[in-house]
Amino acid sequence: MDKSERNSGTFRVLMFGDIIGKTGRQAVKEFLPEIKEEKKPDLIGANCENLAGGFGISEKTVKEMFSAGIDFFTSGNHIWDKREGYELIKRDPRILRPANYPKGVPGRGYTILTRGDVKIGIVNLQGRKFLSEVDSPFYIGDDVLKELEKEDVTIRIIDFHAETTSEKVALGWYFDGRVSLIVGTHTHVQTADSRILPGGTGYITDLGMCGARDSVIGMKKEIALERFLKLMPKRFEVAKGALMVNGILADIDINTGKTVKIERIWKERE
Ligand SMILES: [Fe+2]
Ligand SMILES: [Fe+2]
Repeated sequence: MDKSERNSGTFRVLMFGDIIGKTGRQAVKEFLPEIKEEKKPDLIGANCENLAGGFGISEKTVKEMFSAGIDFFTSGNHIWDKREGYELIKRDPRILRPANYPKGVPGRGYTILTRGDVKIGIVNLQGRKFLSEVDSPFYIGDDVLKELEKEDVTIRIIDFHAETTSEKVALGWYFDGRVSLIVGTHTHVQTADSRILPGGTGYITDLGMCGARDSVIGMKKEIALERFLKLMPKRFEVAKGALMVNGILADIDINTGKTVKIERIWKERE
């Protein structure tokens, strides 16, 4: 069976991990056309927290990625790195920041997109281990799901931006059967545990990243190594070289909201 073959009545989502700086944007532009051609996704998302120079977002970089074919962005802790991004997340409902930040911070933590008759709820949450002390991603996630229920949104996607695998796996079990797809981001390293949980929730602990393959999570390896070896501060720089994109493709039943097929995406080129 052709890998891209699928049942009618399903909605295909493609989601990329964190796009790291210019190299990451180049990687998306390099690989997205062929992935679209081969897999024909109905909706394409990515995490944008490292989009502009590796730290935060800018108007130029967000526009560049929308023109390249990305439909929506989730983010995480680095969304606050550039002031320019604050206005963008305030005015553009396609760009999310984690929902469990304190009340009053700019932007929104979830959004509802429409494709034909299909409504898709996108939710962004952040973990609390080795990150800021945000509100509980579990309980805030519950609150957001209630809002999506009111709007009859059957297809629900969560990007859980978190450091530890245990917190991510736990959140997967907590929301199993109540959302269509849970993808982890933030570590920039793709995990091999993509699966459909018993309740029908597609799950992966981390999507990985889009950026320089021969790097330390997207940054120049020489600089990262020097920081580890000397324990002295040194500015990170986005790495260049061989391009890589990591992500996931999920087929979601439009009527039940359950994932029926999940496939990891990993492409690289010298
Ligand atoms: Fe990141
Ligand atoms: Fe992050």
